[in-house]
Parts: sequence; structure tokens; C-alpha cells
Amino acid sequence: MKTIAIANHKGGCAKTTVALNIAVTLANTGSRVLAVDLDPQGNLSASLGIDLEELEDSRHTSHRLMLDERGDFSTYTANVRPRLDVLPSCLDDDAEALLDGQAVSRELLLKQKLAPANAGYDYCVVDTPPSLRVPTLNALAMSDLTIVPIETSAFALHGLTQLLRKVAKVRKAHSPDMMVMALSSIYTARQNLDKTVRAKIIERFTEDFVFQTTIPRAISVGEATATLRSVIEANSESAPAFAYRKLVTEIREVLGDEESRQEATRRQSR
Ligand SMILES: Nc1ncnc2c1ncn2[C@@H]1O[C@H](COP(=O)(O)OP(=O)(O)OP(=O)(O)O)[C@@H](O)[C@H]1O
Ligand SMILES: [Mg+2]
Repeated sequence: MKTIAIANHKGGCAKTTVALNIAVTLANTGSRVLAVDLDPQGNLSASLGIDLEELEDSRHTSHRLMLDERGDFSTYTANVRPRLDVLPSCLDDDAEALLDGQAVSRELLLKQKLAPANAGYDYCVVDTPPSLRVPTLNALAMSDLTIVPIETSAFALHGLTQLLRKVAKVRKAHSPDMMVMALSSIYTARQNLDKTVRAKIIERFTEDFVFQTTIPRAISVGEATATLRSVIEANSESAPAFAYRKLVTEIREVLGDEESRQEATRRQSR
């Protein structure tokens, strides 16, 4: 199982949209996917059809799994599409406080709990909250590829140094082979500010570590979000849907997953 973490503590840069569309596309193209929602806002969970009120009662959430020493991860997941399961999240202040208070190896809780998932999934796609606290550190500590979505605004690059410093620290301690790549996640090629920000991203990450695919800014994405669906499902012929499919091809290449792609194609055609 390869883990793809989506992280940027800047709010609203399309982390959840990226996680959702990547997870759905990977599953649609034959891979077995575990989507993990680490954000108590629960946006990824809701987009995948989880009832957040029911979840608040059952508390079968990613945060509770991390705190459950004995529990099996599979009792916390739900199947939401063919080949796509979700480990969901919802508001739970107590769980957040308990996670913050864990004294030992608190960055490794998720990795340890999901170790038995390795054989059953090809990919784990993790959506993180807009913060650099324990849940995000857990995502980074098990990540093979960390995607940093960057939208275009005057403040898009603020805080990036802080994020990259944190990523480097976790990589050194827990996942030395982790790759970190930036993605222009809401982008209009014709606009000067977008081009300027993208040039700065390339300067910061170097060309090899910026996805060539850019995700166009488009109303269809917001419309899909409003109906709690991925744009891949809501409007599969739209420009962002094409871009997300292209992005997933790039991700498979970056992760050197030609073999797993062929296996996925075989599975899809069965
Ligand atoms: N390509 C796009 N074009 C237009 N709007 C987009 C695009 N991608 C995402 N959005 C919109 O931007 C908003 C923020 O997206 P999203 O919720 O994915 O960000 P986020 O980084 O997960 O936010 P948070 O930090 O609160 O978790 C949403 O309303 C979403 O519909
Ligand atoms: Mg989000």
C-alpha cells in the first residue's frame, strides 16, 4: 500500500477536493483505495456519503482508531464505492485533546493502526486538517508521497516555509523516502497572478517536484462540492475531471507504479 498525504495548513487550498478526486479516480481505474479523513470538519467523509450525525454517535472515526489500542482498523471503515473504503472523521473535541496529550510516539499512531491494511489496499489517500498538529503529523509519518496543494491568492505561499520545515523533520524521523510535490490546485492559466504564483512554486520546489498537471479553477468543482460528490462523478467530461485523471496518471508514474497500474487494469476488466 502506498500512502498519499494531502497537506497544507493553509485553509481552503483544495486539500479535500484533491483527496476526494484522487481517491475516486484511483478506485475507478481499478485500484483498491482506503481514504482516510483526519479533519474533524469531516468534509471528505461527507463527500463520500458518510452521515456525520450518525458518526458523532458511533464515534468510529480516524481519531478514535488512533486512540484505540486494541481495536482493528476494519471495524472503523465503511465501504463507499466499488474498491473504495473510508476511515471517516467528525467533530470530537475530546479525541483531539486526547491525541494532543499522548506522550509516546503520537506521530506513529495511524501508521501502527493501519499496518494490517497494507495487504488489502493499493493506496491510502489521507486528507488532513488545516493545521500542523498531531493528525497531520501522523499523515506525514506514513506518507510515500505528500502532495501540497497551492491555490492562487496573494497569501497562497505564506506559511510554506513552516510547512516544509515540519515535513522535513517528520521525513527525517519516520519516512526517509517520502516525496513531497506541489500541485497548482485551483489555477487559471490566463491570469497573471496564477502564473506568478506557479513560477514561485517551481522556484521553491524545483520543476521535478511540481506536478505538470494543473487543476483548472472551474464552477463545476464548486457545484460538485455542493452536492457532496467528486467532480469526476458529478461532471466526468469537465476540464477539472480531465485534469484529475491526468494527475492520477502522473501520481502513478511518480510512485513508479506501472506494475500496480497493470494489475488495476486487469482487476477493472474482470
Ligand atoms: N478547481 C477548483 N475550482 C474552483 N473551486 C474549487 C476548485 N477546487 C476546490 N474548489 C473549491 O474551493 C473550496 C475549498 O476547497 P476544499 O474544501 O477542498 O479546501 P480545503 O483545503 O480542504 O479546506 P480546509 O482547509 O477547510 O480543509 C471549496 O468550496 C471547493 O469547492
Ligand atoms: Mg478540507
